[in-house]
Amino acid sequence: MQPKPCRESRVVKTSRVFPNDVNDHNTLFGGKLMSDIDMTASISATRHSRASVVTASTDSVAFLAPVRPSDSVCLESFVTRTGRSSMEVFVKVTAEDLRSGDRRIAATAFLTFVAIDDAGRPTEVPPVLPESEEERRLNKSGDERAEHRRIHRRQSQEMAEYLSTSRPW
Ligand SMILES: CC(C)(COP(=O)(O)OP(=O)(O)OC[C@H]1O[C@@H](n2cnc3c(N)ncnc32)[C@H](O)[C@@H]1OP(=O)(O)O)[C@@H](O)C(=O)NCCC(=O)NCCS
Repeated sequence: MQPKPCRESRVVKTSRVFPNDVNDHNTLFGGKLMSDIDMTASISATRHSRASVVTASTDSVAFLAPVRPSDSVCLESFVTRTGRSSMEVFVKVTAEDLRSGDRRIAATAFLTFVAIDDAGRPTEVPPVLPESEEERRLNKSGDERAEHRRIHRRQSQEMAEYLSTSRPW
């Protein structure tokens, strides 16, 4: 398969913070942001693979700064690394104070999607071609993150072996 540049999977989505999206502290509710991160990243994975994708895992989301109702919030995502059927997607969340124009990184996240065929089996995806300095750095550090995920997946599978599925009531 021909390598695809990261720019081909890039998604940029800017929105306002509405009153029903904030928590008790009048800042953006984390669950709302996580949902938007997953949505944006899934579009990047689909653009890269041009196949159906499922979220295999979400690395911890780093909430670096609060987002306030006076801010706009911009989510930018692209595929940073691929395996045979899996794609790592990086999401950068930038908040902008709309009055002053000050911008800050509000959150970052890495998610892994798997492309699946019509029978629901993992299917091959094209390699990724990083071009910019940011893309190259994120691609280069991807092998180490993938190794952490492999370990975490095995530990989660082992834990699932002893977790109860009976009703707690
Ligand atoms: C993700 C899923 C398709 C993997 O299927 P599987 O039969 O276990 O497939 P494999 O073990 O062959 O793994 C396939 C690929 O997924 C990757 N993968 C699987 N689980 C993963 C995890 N938790 N984190 C990161 N990557 C994962 C593997 O590393 C492998 O990558 P590669 O092909 O690039 O080497 C399957 O576990 C699944 O359907 N999970 C539920 C997904 C879901 O419902 N998501 C939420 C709603 S969209």
